Amino acid sequence: MFHITSEQEMVRLMARDFAKRELEPYAGERDEKEIFPEEVIKKMGQLGLMGMMIPPEYGGTGAGAVSYCLALQEIAYACASSAVTMSVANLSAEPLLKYGSEEQKTKYLPLLASGEILGAFAVTEPGAGSDPGSMTTKAEDRGDYYLINGSKNFITNGGYAGLINLIARTDSKKGNRGLSAFIVEEGLPGFIVGKKEKKMGLKASNTVELIFDDCRIPKENLLGREGQGFKVAMTALDSGRIGIASQSLGIARACLDEAVSYANTRKQFGRNIGSFQAIQWMVADMATEIEAASLLALSAAHRKDKGIPFTKEASMAKLFASELANRAAYKSLQVHGGYGYMTDFKIERLYRDARVTAIYEGTSEIQRVVIARDVMGV
Ligand code: CAA
Repeated sequence: MFHITSEQEMVRLMARDFAKRELEPYAGERDEKEIFPEEVIKKMGQLGLMGMMIPPEYGGTGAGAVSYCLALQEIAYACASSAVTMSVANLSAEPLLKYGSEEQKTKYLPLLASGEILGAFAVTEPGAGSDPGSMTTKAEDRGDYYLINGSKNFITNGGYAGLINLIARTDSKKGNRGLSAFIVEEGLPGFIVGKKEKKMGLKASNTVELIFDDCRIPKENLLGREGQGFKVAMTALDSGRIGIASQSLGIARACLDEAVSYANTRKQFGRNIGSFQAIQWMVADMATEIEAASLLALSAAHRKDKGIPFTKEASMAKLFASELANRAAYKSLQVHGGYGYMTDFKIERLYRDARVTAIYEGTSEIQRVVIARDVMGV
């Protein structure tokens, strides 16, 4: 078994306790009414859940990736929407931690760590999803500022973010190497939050379009060097994928528990359906795959904490856990039969929430590309 320290266990229990009180009882209603629980998200920030990789010198807890993985599972178990909010908030600190100047770190990290501001990460565009290297949002060097024009879509937290990591094109001829990263603060003239997406699931998370119309970003907000934007994005996504693996695990655990409790009470043919082997096998498969996914996610997180490269491991964890979450949602709904298709049962929401985990932060197909390139050296 993977060794969890007593500190990491305390973080897990703290997140579990919070999720039980503040998320689980309201998750169904927030989903139905598409409510983004701003005050609750703030509380998560105050508990240190929004900047778990930020070290104490910048106001964070420095809890690390293993604690993050455990805490995020607990949040996702109760409310997958709040889990993606948390995951992207943590992801938004990564570019600053790795590429930020001392001034940028001192200015922004404490705000992210305390939850005073929420972070977002703007890479995807209408025509650039799996292939971010084809993005067209432009950042023109105009002396003491960059002029930004273009739009980003599917941006998690975008409507509530105080800080956005923006990747934009500074050189039209250099492909991936012509991208640069910027810090965008909310409220800049020419920075517009566009339409809010209507989604299949994760309805209590915020997903919007961001529009840049002659938006001026001060020169000092360039993150890293010009041309480093693609690497900034990829580095952040490596960590983000541990987050989505953890979110997927939380959803899968909830699917399993819902299946077990339903199977142990629902009677057909004069006995609990849990006494039938067909149901037991579904439960056994779910439980086994959850254990495997958990070890993959913790192993990727452990490598990150130890400073060991973890790109491949994060992709493996994300691939396996997200596909498992979808299989678990399918099986658990199957155990529920017709009732599972009704909105009265939690599994209906879990089924919808699970779907996107195999799509965002790199589709399963992209994860396989990352893994195969590493394994095969191609
Ligand atoms: N870390 C650091 N550098 C990396 C890297 C990594 N993990 N992966 C690639 N790079 C570097 C390469 O070394 C290379 O560097 P050089 O230019 O110095 O040679 C450069 O980046 C280009 O790499 P590739 O040639 O491998 O790039 P590619 O165009 O073939 O793309 C890819 C690779 C893996 C397919 C990548 O494009 C990818 O991950 N695509 C998926 C994008 C994605 O996940 N989007 C999600 C958006 S965010 C989101 O969903 C958030 C949310 O709201 C929940």
